[in-house]
Amino acid sequence: MPQKLHIKTFGCQMNEYDSSRMADLLRASHGYHTTDDPDAADMVLLNTCSVREKAQEKVFSQLGRWRQIKARKPGLVIGVGGCVASQEGEMIMKRAPYVDIVFGPQTLHRLPALLDRVLQKRARSVDISFPEIEKFDCLPPPRVVGVKAFVSIMEGCGKYCSFCVVPYTRGTEFSRPFDDVITEVYDLAGRGVREVNLLGQNVNAYRGPRHDGRPVDLAELLHYVAAIDGIDRIRYTTSHPLDFTDALARAFAEIPELAGHLHLPVQSGSDRILQLMKRNYTARDYLRWVDKIRAHRPDISLSSDFIIGFPGETDADFAATMALIEAVGYDQSFSFIYSPRPGTPAAQLADDIPLAVKKARLQELQSRINAMAASIASRMVGGRETILVEGPSRKDPRQFAGRTENNRVVNFDGSPGMVGDFVSVTITEALPNSLRGVAAPEKKVA
Ligand code: SAM
Ligand code: F3S
Repeated sequence: MPQKLHIKTFGCQMNEYDSSRMADLLRASHGYHTTDDPDAADMVLLNTCSVREKAQEKVFSQLGRWRQIKARKPGLVIGVGGCVASQEGEMIMKRAPYVDIVFGPQTLHRLPALLDRVLQKRARSVDISFPEIEKFDCLPPPRVVGVKAFVSIMEGCGKYCSFCVVPYTRGTEFSRPFDDVITEVYDLAGRGVREVNLLGQNVNAYRGPRHDGRPVDLAELLHYVAAIDGIDRIRYTTSHPLDFTDALARAFAEIPELAGHLHLPVQSGSDRILQLMKRNYTARDYLRWVDKIRAHRPDISLSSDFIIGFPGETDADFAATMALIEAVGYDQSFSFIYSPRPGTPAAQLADDIPLAVKKARLQELQSRINAMAASIASRMVGGRETILVEGPSRKDPRQFAGRTENNRVVNFDGSPGMVGDFVSVTITEALPNSLRGVAAPEKKVA
């Protein structure tokens, strides 16, 4: 019987990606198969996130549950990875003596060696260093599940926004070599992947060296990825507005494979708050970037992250955020109440906005953006969309589901032979979380 591995993931897409790489790695090195049931596992891994509050409490309450399993099953190996591990490695070992392994986002490739130490010597290990390039060199090729794949093209972040813990937990910016990225995408295309999402905390700062040493930026990389046979849809997440070059805006006109959706976090519409956040742009700069992008792809759908209740945020600052939202017209948002992160400069500022005010502002912002998204969805009714068919629909297995360029799920009457195809559908109905459509007679091969 193969050994079983259970992974619990908190946080962002980068963490989801890292978790799937942990599973690939331990399958290749130790033959572990993944399971959704921690009680059935021989090894359990917690991939943590510390971007927002309660990260530590969540980690220790999860570990407490696993401790009970270990009491019944002493051979269970418990590992903690991700950003909380990176920040609090030794403290986790002290507070949770039943944890065997602590590793950071940049040392997950050393998991097999750390596991061997536990299995052979029953020795507990902490490895939360930042060995940069080594990580990518040591990972096996990713396992392909379905027709879409994430490809991590850079690690860490060097922007040091005053509120953010990422540069401290994941280290500074580091780009994967261009040739390695291209090889990985070729390999994925050969295994049936049709859509790739290039990932990085600050992905448009990508500067991957070529074999001759010349750095390639994200715009140039996109052209190369689009030229790979089989890859017909490309996304990238997350972009920082400051690194949004003219070449990247032009790419929306030049590269039809580039999906018409962009996540471009603004965080706030108030210049005073943006300065305190150390974002290094103004609301007007951001609107100019949006205009430039729309000049090349007029129907692009935009989403953003917002932080509500940053220290000192006044009603006027919040009104400036709402005004920016009206000016841009967003399709989606990831909005969060500010949470002071230990070790960041903003944590020195008084967190002075009453929680009720923060919650009311968050509610106002979210309902406005939800209304904008609903009106975009209803305007899509009657129009045609190209969707990448991913498989049977979640609610009704007789139906099939795919996503539009602006990332909406469309359910329609399809057939198994359509999975992995780009299909043209006419949208017939907009529901709160999805669309319904009918496949147009001819099949579009993008
Ligand atoms: N690279 C992206 C950018 O250009 O802004 C951000 C990546 S960050 C890991 C993801 C999001 O988490 C941020 O955009 C921000 O909205 C949110 N976030 C980060 N630190 C936060 C904090 N201390 N409190 C609340 N939200 C936070
Ligand atoms: Fe964080 Fe700012 Fe980088 S939000 S991930 S420090 S761009």
